[in-house]
Amino acid sequence: MAVETVRVKNTGLRGVTVADTKISYIDGENGVLIYRGYRIEELAERSTFMETAFLLLNGHLPKKSELEGFEAQVVQARELPGFILESMEKFPKGTDPMDVLQASIPMLAMADPEVNDDSREANVRKAVRLIARTPAAVAAWHRIRNGRKPLAPDNALSHAANFLWQLSGEKPGAEIARDLDLCLVLHADHTFNASTFACREVVSTNAHIYAGVTAGVGALSGSLHGGANERVMKMLLEVESELPSVDDVGPWVMKRIESGRKIMGMGHAVYKTFDPRAKILKEMSRRLTAKAGHPKWYEYLARIEEEGIKGFAARGKPEINTNVDFYSGAVYSAMGIPIDIMTPVFAISRISGWCAHIIEEKFAEAQDKPALYRPEAEYVGNYCGEVGCTYQPVPDRG
Ligand SMILES: CC(C)(COP(=O)(O)OP(=O)(O)OC[C@H]1O[C@@H](n2cnc3c(N)ncnc32)[C@H](O)[C@@H]1OP(=O)(O)O)[C@@H](O)C(=O)NCCC(=O)NCCS
Repeated sequence: MAVETVRVKNTGLRGVTVADTKISYIDGENGVLIYRGYRIEELAERSTFMETAFLLLNGHLPKKSELEGFEAQVVQARELPGFILESMEKFPKGTDPMDVLQASIPMLAMADPEVNDDSREANVRKAVRLIARTPAAVAAWHRIRNGRKPLAPDNALSHAANFLWQLSGEKPGAEIARDLDLCLVLHADHTFNASTFACREVVSTNAHIYAGVTAGVGALSGSLHGGANERVMKMLLEVESELPSVDDVGPWVMKRIESGRKIMGMGHAVYKTFDPRAKILKEMSRRLTAKAGHPKWYEYLARIEEEGIKGFAARGKPEINTNVDFYSGAVYSAMGIPIDIMTPVFAISRISGWCAHIIEEKFAEAQDKPALYRPEAEYVGNYCGEVGCTYQPVPDRG
């Protein structure tokens, strides 16, 4: 296939369409997010994470029997292979949970007898195991690093409730479990974001699903992507300790914008208006922070949002608004989730979208089949003419 060279250097591929997808859609101008045809607001209100994960993987909402079967498969796959827990015991206790999660995915591959079966059916089964076991890996590491024993899953608990149980050793109330489940629905997919593209790029080489997901976890850990929720929470705690009153937020925001420092949780590569997920999380954070005895967190955040939007608009950037990470940190903190577990929580949701995209990448119809990703770079390094630079042996190099 002859391909015309298109130069999109240093744009992060913004505005470049590289594949077809049936999984999700964003209308960034109007603040719309759709999974498989369903608006995120509708799923947030009426669906569950298990149902949403099924929808993303299979393309349709499950019938009752399909949902029950899917949930049972996930519950059955929750237990982590023993050698993974034994390996974690040997990891340095200060290791970042995202690094441990990233290291755990290839170990899940080692434990999977179907790892090299690349049929669609086997990939769906592997996706189920990944969805079931990533929360277990995050929870196990949190306990091990704190000198505690990992807990066995409680199969009577929902996906979200079981994660909180395995993390903290306490059975969560129904409201918290439902709220976390809703957070998982909101984070499950987001078209060709950096981590999803990383997953798809890796499996475009025919690498297996675990190799793709490992890349996705690495991409998500960055502060410009999933790592932003942790940074918003740290920013909020700093603001709370430094500013005596919510009324001091305006000057703080202005100073931050003028100094060129980013306000974490604001701005988005695709949304040029509000992020529909942030709207839902805003209301949840108001309710949960009040319940947890930290109503000021919400007040500070809401004021940063208000002053930020005003400040950016006054500087000709009216498109900068709050994104999904802005309120989620306060939501997770109010649930008792430690700051460095927030990005892993993002991952245990996004794993469903990553797997759906990996399966789509591998099994697209022939006419839509994406090619092995292989962009080009412009060489701007040394060039010593047609003969190349003269090699000097080490002792002659001065
Ligand atoms: C998400 C993000 C990377 C999107 O990037 P983008 O659309 O490529 O936009 P850019 O980073 O190029 O920013 C465009 C301009 O707006 C400014 N800007 C964007 N987001 C900003 C923020 N949160 N705070 C301050 N300035 C911001 C940039 O500094 C840049 O200014 P300039 O044109 O004067 O150099 C960016 O908004 C950001 O870094 N946000 C903070 C991190 C975050 O919340 N990430 C989670 C994303 S879901």
